Amino acid sequence: MACVVIVGTQWGDEGKGKIVDLLTRNADFVVRFQGGSNAGHTIVLRGEKFIFHLIPSGILYRGKKCIIGNGVVLDPEVLLEEIKELKERGYFKDDQQLMISEEAHLILPYHRKIDVARERIFKIGTTGRGIGPAYEDKVARCGIRVIDLMDEELFREKLEANLLQKNTYLVEVLKEEPFRFSEIFETYLRFRDLLGKYIKDTTRILHEALHQGKHILFEGAQGTLLDLDHGTYPYVTASNTVAGNACAGAGVPPTEIDTILGVAKAYTTRVGEGPFPTELRDEVGEKMRQRGGEYGATTGRPRRCGWFDAVIVNHAIRINGIREVALTKMDVLNEFEKIKICVGYQIDGKVLYHVPSNLRIWQSAKPIYEEMEGWKGEIRGAKQYRDLPLNARRYIKRIEELIQARVTIISVGSEREETIILKNPFGK
Ligand code: IMP
Repeated sequence: MACVVIVGTQWGDEGKGKIVDLLTRNADFVVRFQGGSNAGHTIVLRGEKFIFHLIPSGILYRGKKCIIGNGVVLDPEVLLEEIKELKERGYFKDDQQLMISEEAHLILPYHRKIDVARERIFKIGTTGRGIGPAYEDKVARCGIRVIDLMDEELFREKLEANLLQKNTYLVEVLKEEPFRFSEIFETYLRFRDLLGKYIKDTTRILHEALHQGKHILFEGAQGTLLDLDHGTYPYVTASNTVAGNACAGAGVPPTEIDTILGVAKAYTTRVGEGPFPTELRDEVGEKMRQRGGEYGATTGRPRRCGWFDAVIVNHAIRINGIREVALTKMDVLNEFEKIKICVGYQIDGKVLYHVPSNLRIWQSAKPIYEEMEGWKGEIRGAKQYRDLPLNARRYIKRIEELIQARVTIISVGSEREETIILKNPFGK
């Protein structure tokens, strides 16, 4: 039995979807434990591209169980769309493959509207998917859970009580149109009918799986620097994205986790607002964006691009307890003459080797770079570590030294096969 947690070590979009897809081969279960349809996990399979917002990235394998855990905020409309698309493309033929936690909280239309309307004031650069407002309700103990939807009267009561508050807030504060009760009520009962077969006590199912010695892969969404507590607050998402939350967000004990695999992109990107010391607002950043296809999988927004920042990844390594790292999108750097790595920050004449908490300090941090020679050649065909050019290996070695973790998986292209695996976290 092995439990492996996959987490992003930067600001999301590290290529977790591909790594999850790859390791699903060895897993029996793939579990999402936080976030919602703000995620956009991309997988390329024999030239065909898939983007998953809610369904765990393991769904493309027949027979593997995919769980949407209690820690996720679930937008039924997005999920149904995703299910429909997968089925139309000839995947996900067995409904037993997908399970949704009864305890996951629902995203309702007012969450999305509040999210978008509040962006005018707070300018976080959210995905507009209603994630923050849905988690707020969860914490305020007025959220509506998947299980509540199964009890029509309870759902009616909760929706009425919520709508009263939400409509007042929407109309009086945000100057938006209110929602009609019947519209949401009818729509969500339809969603209940369509999704009912997937709704289960997933915590109990996972406990049974642990008991049977199954392999479980936990698929983190977003990245450590977007974590509500440990990220660049307030420019973060509304959930804990770190490995520790895999336990709370799925209901498994910490003692069951064997390995935490961090995923780091060979450079850095970020979508939305917030500090980003190594950001390149020049033709080098533009080249990364073009070569790496750096546009948001959920919103289509161009991602901000910059050099690898060892300070933030080191922060993620410590917070998550990562010893093994999957380094992704190495091939995007193929054509660069020189490649830089940020090893510390210059702030008001002082040098800092860890991430600050103060937002103003974050925003004034100037990166201290080490410069390395690029490898200037195609690495997509590399099957083994020794196939990589010397300068590419040097780059990886230097990253390992700086982040104090071993690079055990190297992704050199978007396809499953374009990956060098030095160590499989499932030990296979
Ligand atoms: P929210 O999660 O929609 O509330 O957005 C909060 C911040 O997290 C914004 O900067 C988003 O761009 C960012 N974000 C949310 N989900 C992802 C993701 O999956 N990848 C990258 N950034 C994300």
